[in-house]
Amino acid sequence: MARQVQLIAYPDGEIGPEHFRTVEVAIPAPASGEVLVRNLYTSVDPALRLRTRRASPSGYFSAFPLNAPMDGIMCVGEVVESRADAFAAGDLVTHAWGWRDLALVPADQPSLSGVGTLTRVDASLGPPEKFLGPLGNMGLTAYVGLIDAAELRDGDVVWISAAAGAVGSLAVQIAKLRGHRVIASAGSVEKVRFLRDELGADAAFDYHDGPVLDQLRAAAPDGIDVYFDNVGGDHLGAALATLRRWGRVAMCGSVSDYDRSEPQPGPTNLFQIVANDLTVRGFRASSHLDRLVDSSRELGQWLADGRLHYRETIVDGLEHAPDALVRMLAGDTVGKTLVRI
Ligand SMILES: NC(=O)c1ccc[n+]([C@@H]2O[C@H](COP(=O)([O-])OP(=O)(O)OC[C@H]3O[C@@H](n4cnc5c(N)ncnc54)[C@H](OP(=O)(O)O)[C@@H]3O)[C@@H](O)[C@H]2O)c1
Repeated sequence: MARQVQLIAYPDGEIGPEHFRTVEVAIPAPASGEVLVRNLYTSVDPALRLRTRRASPSGYFSAFPLNAPMDGIMCVGEVVESRADAFAAGDLVTHAWGWRDLALVPADQPSLSGVGTLTRVDASLGPPEKFLGPLGNMGLTAYVGLIDAAELRDGDVVWISAAAGAVGSLAVQIAKLRGHRVIASAGSVEKVRFLRDELGADAAFDYHDGPVLDQLRAAAPDGIDVYFDNVGGDHLGAALATLRRWGRVAMCGSVSDYDRSEPQPGPTNLFQIVANDLTVRGFRASSHLDRLVDSSRELGQWLADGRLHYRETIVDGLEHAPDALVRMLAGDTVGKTLVRI
């Protein structure tokens, strides 16, 4: 038997554990071309909240069906049995048949636009959980957002929001290690301390401590050149008001919108994009899979050198995955939120 978490109702307001259940299901032996994987860790991502709506945003990964396995969530695990030529028992793999303890994975079936297709990873590069962080999609997201979407240039002053989280904490360090002045924001005193003392941000603030625009201006009196947006809403408005001429926004996500029943109003100062020749560019890491080699090489080297700090908040037990999602959306986790199975 295997266990899996299923969504049982689409929330009308905030999401809670009551919208999920954990069930036991029979699991057959692998058929030809399939691999049986024992998951070690599964990922908890803010965007899952977009997929626990009746309809996910147009163009994005589809909503989870009710009372069915939640496929399309990243996992790292160990192959137990393989009937696919390229995999053998004992291989460490990533895939996206997530929020289950045992997964029967079709080896050649693309998933999550390729990010979640079954892939053997080099276990010598780091512990398994790092492949759901700097050595995987989180590293790729931070890297592509800064280097490709924001076209990071020498001397840029960079602001990163939700900076104590999985993507943000990597973006802060990539920018710092490349020599930039970095302003970081997050949601608590402890996170601000983490950003300054552990990640090396030049300035950091708690967005609860006053209007974001005021705090950003105090941290960057001469303005910013790049905004790495994980939050949207008032944060994006503050960035548009602060970006200098030819500034760039990498739109990574909009987490302040995800767990609301009604969308919040967008920024009212969009004309700043015209006034200052700004570029605002959205990106999906999965559309830049060819960059995974570069991001993993750079971040993997820094990780091995001890120059990259990567915290995780690890919640034990598959059945606690919904609690982990709720905690992460509420800001009650630091670094990458993972469930250990
Ligand atoms: N484009 C892509 O390919 C891609 C890939 C992965 C992730 N993302 C996006 O990247 C962003 C960060 O994802 P992540 O996995 O690294 O998550 P995370 O930052 O580890 O967790 C989300 C954090 O967002 C903060 N937050 C929640 N509500 C907020 C609000 N109203 N205002 C400001 N901050 C709020 C919370 O921390 P605080 O304590 O700081 O509030 C929370 O812990 C998300 O928007 C996600 O959708 C995009």
